[in-house]
This record gives sequence, structure tokens and C-alpha cells, in this order.
Amino acid sequence: MNDAAKQLIRDAMAKASASQTASAYAPSNIALSKYWGKRDRARNLPLNSSLSISLAEWGSHTQVVPSKDGRDRVTLGGEDLSLDTPFAAKALKFADLFRGEDGSAKTPLWIETSNTIPTAAGLASSASGFAALTQALCGAFGLSDHLSEAQMSLIARLGSGSATRSLWHGFVRWDKGTQEDGSDSFAQPLNLQWPEFRIAILPVDVGPKSHSSRDGMNHTVATSPLFASWPDQAEADCQAIETAVRAQDFDTLGALAEANALAMHATMQAARPALSYLTTESWALLDQLWQARKEGLQAYATMDAGANVKLIFLGRSTDDITHLFPQAQVIEPFKTL
Ligand code: ADP
Ligand code: DP6
Repeated sequence: MNDAAKQLIRDAMAKASASQTASAYAPSNIALSKYWGKRDRARNLPLNSSLSISLAEWGSHTQVVPSKDGRDRVTLGGEDLSLDTPFAAKALKFADLFRGEDGSAKTPLWIETSNTIPTAAGLASSASGFAALTQALCGAFGLSDHLSEAQMSLIARLGSGSATRSLWHGFVRWDKGTQEDGSDSFAQPLNLQWPEFRIAILPVDVGPKSHSSRDGMNHTVATSPLFASWPDQAEADCQAIETAVRAQDFDTLGALAEANALAMHATMQAARPALSYLTTESWALLDQLWQARKEGLQAYATMDAGANVKLIFLGRSTDDITHLFPQAQVIEPFKTL
């Protein structure tokens, strides 16, 4: 079976010039309607569409440099990684999409990256990491003028599904697509501004998690009896969330996003053996939020494959949020960057 992303790279490569240094920044993103479950693991093709909000200056800076000493090199946050670490191996395998997978005549590369978010802590470093790497590789191999952002989103998907949504700021929707080769499974920005929209990260555990999102997702799909109900519900949630975002109907959006996240975590808890990224501290924060909401606070929570809790709210609630949750790190996704 041909792969649409690989074909795009091959076609663009035929027109491209020699390799050069290129750098890129991509924001991380938080899904308001989650991607959870794949119909094709090799291509990261999802069972349902998803919709996210990008995290402005929280993301990944990546530079790709043709290596001078003929050897590959991967640097994360200023530290050289051993090439057999999973991080370096995944990044180089992704780079092979651009420089030939057969091992012959590979262009040696130095991939230098740093995250302004904690790595592998459920704050979507894989999303910004592979989106920035895609853009930097396209720049380095002279493909940027030959590929649209949507096509780069399709390529980024091969690194990590959530990376499809990190090519843009603001709200982004990834359509699951139906084609076997993945040619219609990429993201597009909603192209709307909602300046009052806010996100707060409530850090619970910013160290690396014990199970990657990828493993957690595959384990849940394979063993959770609750997973059967997820794809249809998630598709309906995604549609309803898009409608609420377009109408700027904050309470409808917040309630749907929170319910969608909790349903995803319910599928994991029913997995065999059970998988729980949320800790007692995460649940205590949710209890605190739900109590405050009863007293009138307009804020909702969402959680990914990690213990950290993220809140969504509008600018007018910022003082209430930072009073209730002094640890909150507030992000303004539409502030001019
Ligand atoms: P997270 O919740 O942070 O996305 P995951 O376990 O899903 O955690 O993904 C972490 C993985 O994403 C890392 O092990 C690495 O393979 C990849 N990754 C993270 N940051 C970058 C980056 N800046 N460049 C390339 N890959 C990255
Ligand atoms: C819970 O995109 O990290 O954050 O495609 O296997 O790399 P892979 O998975 P990944 O999973 C993200 C899962 C999530 C939900 C989401 O971001 O939509």
C-alpha cells in the first residue's frame, strides 16, 4: 500500500534543492476533543476526528543542520543524546523519510531541539516536537515552497498523530479521513480569533510519564471493553465542539470538552490491566474545580495521557482562577506572538 505522506515527500523532493540549515517553531496543543485510538498504527490514522487549541509560546524550537563531521547528532535542550535513546532514534527515523530509508547515501544531520514545555509529561511535547521537526526538515531539504501547511500536517502525522494539529496557532481540527493511504487525514485551522479564551496548566507531575500516550492508546484499544463506545461518541463530540467554538458558546464548549476527556479516561480505567494517568492529586484538583463551578466559576478541565490538569476559561475569570489555583500557569492562545 502506498503511503500518501511518503508520496508527497517523493514528489516534492524531485523539485527540491540541496540541503541547508533550517529552523522552525511549533506550538504544542491541547485537544478539546481527543484523538484516542488508531485504525492504522503505522500511519497514525485515527478512529475519530479531534479538535485542539494551540499553546502559543509553549512548544518546540528545532533546527536541522547538515552535519559537518559526517555523523548524525541529536541534541535536546543543549544536551547531546546517545543515538540509541528512544528520543533520538525516533527523530532520526522520522528524518529518514526525507533522506531515504534504505541507508544508502543518507545526508548526515544534526537535529537540535528544545522544548519550552516539559518533555513526555502529558503536555504534548510529541505534538510540537514532530511538527517543528517536520517544518525544519522541509526547510532543510528545500521542500517548504513545494508543500502546503496541510501537506506538512499530513507528513507530521507519521511522527505523532497529535503533531498534525501543531502546524498552526489557535483552534485546529484534524479530520480523521477515510482513505487507507492517509491522503485525507490531516488538520486544518479553524481560522477564528477568540481573544478572551484562556488555558491554565495545573502542574501535578511534570516528570516523564511511565507509559507513552502511544502505548496507553494501543493498550486501551486492545483490551478495554468500554472502548467500543468511544469512536462514535468522540466523532459526535468533535462536531459539537467545533459548532460551540464557532458560536463562541463557552459553557457548551467547556462542558463537552470536560465530558470528552473524562470519557477517554474512563476507557483507560476499564483497560485490562487498568491504566490510570490521573493521580489522587489530579482528582483533588477536579473536585476543587467542580465545587467552585457550583459557586459560579465558569471554568472546565481537560486531561491527557498524564497527571496534569488543564483548565479552560475566559479572561474575565483569570483572577478567580489564579486565586483558587495559585500554581496555575496561564496561557493566552490568541495573544500576538
Ligand atoms: P507528551 O505528552 O509530552 O507528548 P509522549 O510520551 O506522548 O509525551 O511523547 C514524548 C515523545 O515525543 C518523546 O519521547 C519524543 O519521542 C517526542 N518528542 C518530544 N519532544 C520532541 C522534540 N522537541 N523533537 C522531536 N521529538 C520530540
Ligand atoms: C491523549 O499523538 O501522542 O494527547 O500518534 O501514537 O504519537 P501517537 O499519539 P499522541 O497521542 C495523543 C493522545 C492525547 C489526545 C490528543 O492529543 O488528542
